[in-house]
Amino acid sequence: MSQSPITDPTDYRSVHAQSLQDPESFWLDAAQDLEWSRFPTRALDSAEAPLYSWFPDGELNVSHNALDRHVEAGRGDHTALIYDSAVTADSGSYTYRELRDEVAATAGMLAQLGVGHGDRVLIYLPMIPQAPIAMLACARLGAVHSVVFGGFAAKGIAARIDDAEPTVLLTATGGVEPSRTIDYLPKVAEAVELAQHRVGEVVVWHRAGFTAEAQQTPEQSPARWHDWQDLLETAAPVEPVPVASTDPLYVLHTSGTTGRPKGVVRDQGSTAAALRWSISAIFDVGEDDTILTASDVGWVVGHSYIVYAPLLAGATTVLYEGKPVGTPDAGALWRVVDQHRVTSLFTAPTALRAIRKADPELELLQRYDISSLRWLFVAGERLDPKTQRWIGEGLGVPVVDNWWQTETGWPIAANPVGIEQLPVKEGSATLPMAGFDVEVLDPSGDPLPAGQQGNIVIRLPLPPGNLSTLWGDDQRYIDTYLSAFEGYYTTGDSGYIDEDGYIFVMGRSDDVINVSGHRLSTGEIEAAVAEHQAVAECAVIGLRDELKGQRPAGFVVLKAGSDIGEEQLRTELVAQVRSTIGPVADFKDVVVVDALPKTRSGKVLRKTMRQIADGEEYTVPSTIEDAQVIDDLVPVLRR
Ligand code: COA
Ligand code: AMP
Repeated sequence: MSQSPITDPTDYRSVHAQSLQDPESFWLDAAQDLEWSRFPTRALDSAEAPLYSWFPDGELNVSHNALDRHVEAGRGDHTALIYDSAVTADSGSYTYRELRDEVAATAGMLAQLGVGHGDRVLIYLPMIPQAPIAMLACARLGAVHSVVFGGFAAKGIAARIDDAEPTVLLTATGGVEPSRTIDYLPKVAEAVELAQHRVGEVVVWHRAGFTAEAQQTPEQSPARWHDWQDLLETAAPVEPVPVASTDPLYVLHTSGTTGRPKGVVRDQGSTAAALRWSISAIFDVGEDDTILTASDVGWVVGHSYIVYAPLLAGATTVLYEGKPVGTPDAGALWRVVDQHRVTSLFTAPTALRAIRKADPELELLQRYDISSLRWLFVAGERLDPKTQRWIGEGLGVPVVDNWWQTETGWPIAANPVGIEQLPVKEGSATLPMAGFDVEVLDPSGDPLPAGQQGNIVIRLPLPPGNLSTLWGDDQRYIDTYLSAFEGYYTTGDSGYIDEDGYIFVMGRSDDVINVSGHRLSTGEIEAAVAEHQAVAECAVIGLRDELKGQRPAGFVVLKAGSDIGEEQLRTELVAQVRSTIGPVADFKDVVVVDALPKTRSGKVLRKTMRQIADGEEYTVPSTIEDAQVIDDLVPVLRR
C-alpha cells in the first residue's frame, strides 16, 4: 500500500488532493466503512485500461451492508424506510429489522423463480416500498436489477428487456399521478410481447385502489404471470450471497444522442464505497439523520440517494410518492419534512420553480415546522441563481447545488458540507468531489484557461461508483465516452472552471435535453415523430422553458402531397410520442416548416435552430447547404 499524505479531514481541498495523489490509500480507507467478506488488498485495477475497475479482489454483499449489518450492530429497531404517498394517503415505515426480513423474503421469492447470481431482474414499479425492497432483494442474491421509470411506455420497456435480458420482471398494478391512475399491466403485457428476449416470469404486486379490471393479468402472454403477495407466502428467506466487488450491481438505461438507450453498469463494491463516502461527506447524513430525496427510483438520483446511500449509512430514507405541487399543493415537500423530521432534502430546480410559480411568497411554509431541515440539495439540471436565492432565503437553509449524471452515480461537483461548508458562488456546483479530476478542453483537446467555456471532461480513471461499462458493450462505452479526448471521460456537458477551481455547468454540448430534470434524447423523440406517415423529416430541439428548464419542440417537413392540418398533425404526433416513449417526454410543440437547415453532408443544424429560438446569438456554419433555409426559419423559430 502506498504512503498516504497527512490529510486534514475537515479541509476539503486537502481531502480532494489526497484522493487524486494517492487514490489507492484514499479509497481503501473509504472501503473500511463497509463490511466485506473479503477485504480488498488493492483499490485500482488498470489492467484493462481504459476500462478500469476498483477493489478487484474484494468480496461483499451490498444488501448485507445496507440492512443486516445495522441489525447485527444493535440498530434493528431504527427506522430504515418511511413511505409516504401524497396521492393515496398511504404511509408507514420499516425498521432495519423489518426491511431486512422483507428483503430476505423477496429474495427468496426471486430465488424460487430461478433467479441467481448474475441474472437480471427488470423492475417496473411505482414509488411504493416494493421498489427498494426489490432492488435490495436482487443485491442480496447478487442478481442485477434494471429499474425502468414508470413514465416510460411499452416500447421503452421492451427496448430495456432486449438489452438487459431479464429472467424475471417485477411490476405492480399501477402508478398514481395527480390527475389519473396509470395501469401498468397492459404496458407490461405489450412490452413482454414486443421484446425479442423472452421474459419467463412476471410478478405483480397488487395495489389497493385499482379496479378489478386493472388487476387482471393477460390471458395470453409469452410469460407466466404470478401474484407477488401469493408467492411471498411460501418464500423462504435468503441470506446475503457474497459476490465479487467488480460484479454488476445494476444496469440503468439512460438517454444518449441516438434513439437507443445506453445501459449504464455500476458494480457492487465500488458503488457501495463511493455512495457510503458521499452520503456523509456531501449530504451530511449519518445514522441519526433522515433524508428525503424527492425523485423516483427509476432515475439514478433515486438509486443512489433514496435507496443505497442512506441505508449504507444506517440513516432513515423517505420514499415519497407525489409531486412538489398539486398533491395537494405547493406545501407538499414542507409537509413531508415536518412530518418525518427530515434533515436533508434533495430535489430538482424544476420542482422549486414549480413551487415558486404556485406559491411565490412561500405562504404554505408557515403551516409547517421545518426546523429539522439543515440542507437543501439540488441537482438534475442547472440551478439558476434566481431560484437558488429565492429558496435559500425562503427556507433559511444553505442550498447545495450538485452536478452529476446517471453515468457517474454520485456528484462530480458539490459543496462538501459534510466535511466543510465552502463559500458559495451562484451558478456554480462548487468544487470537484473526491477522485474527480475535472478539466475544460477546447474541441481539439487543449486545456482552456480559467473562465473559458468548453467541453467538461474528467481525467481517467473515474473514481469508484462511476459506470464500469455499458451493458454488454465495452466498445460502445469506449466510443461514446472515452474516444473524443484521449485519457479523459467526456461528460457531454459544457461549461467553465473559474480561477478558484469552481465548476460552472452551462448545459449539454450534445443532443441530450433536460425536461423537468428528466434526461431525454432528441434523437429518440425524432425517431418516434419520423414514424408518422405524413412526416418526411424532422428535427427535435430543446427550447428554453421558464418552468421545465427545457421543453422538446418538433420541426417537421411534410411529405409532398400530404394535406394533414397542423393541429391534426400535432395531436397525432403527441399521441405517437406518448405511446412510443411515454408521457414523460412531455412533447407538445409541433411546427410545420418547408425545410430544415442542414450542412452539405446532411447534418441538421439543431444547435443553430435552438440558439435562434432561444434568442441567443447564433453562428451559421460555412458548411451550410442553403443559407436561405435559415433566413426563412428565423421568424418561425422566434414566433
Ligand atoms: N408514470 C406515468 N406518467 C408519468 C410519471 C410516471 N411515473 N411521471 C410523470 N408522468 C407523466 C405526467 O403525468 C405528465 O403527463 P401529462 O402530460 O398527461 O400531464 C407527464 O408525464 C409529464 O410529467 P412531469 O414531468 O412530472 O410534469 P408535470 O407537469 O406533471 O409536473 C413538475 C412538473 C416540475 C412538478 C415535475 O416534473 C417534477 O416534480 N419534476 C421534478 C423531477 C425530478 O425530481 N427529477 C429527478 C431528478 S433529481
Ligand atoms: P441524468 O443523467 O439524468 O442525471 O442527467 C445528467 C445531466 O443533467 C448532466 O449531464 C447535466 O447536463 C445535467 N445536470 C445534472 N445536475 C446538474 C447541475 N447541478 N447543474 C447543471 N446541470 C446538471
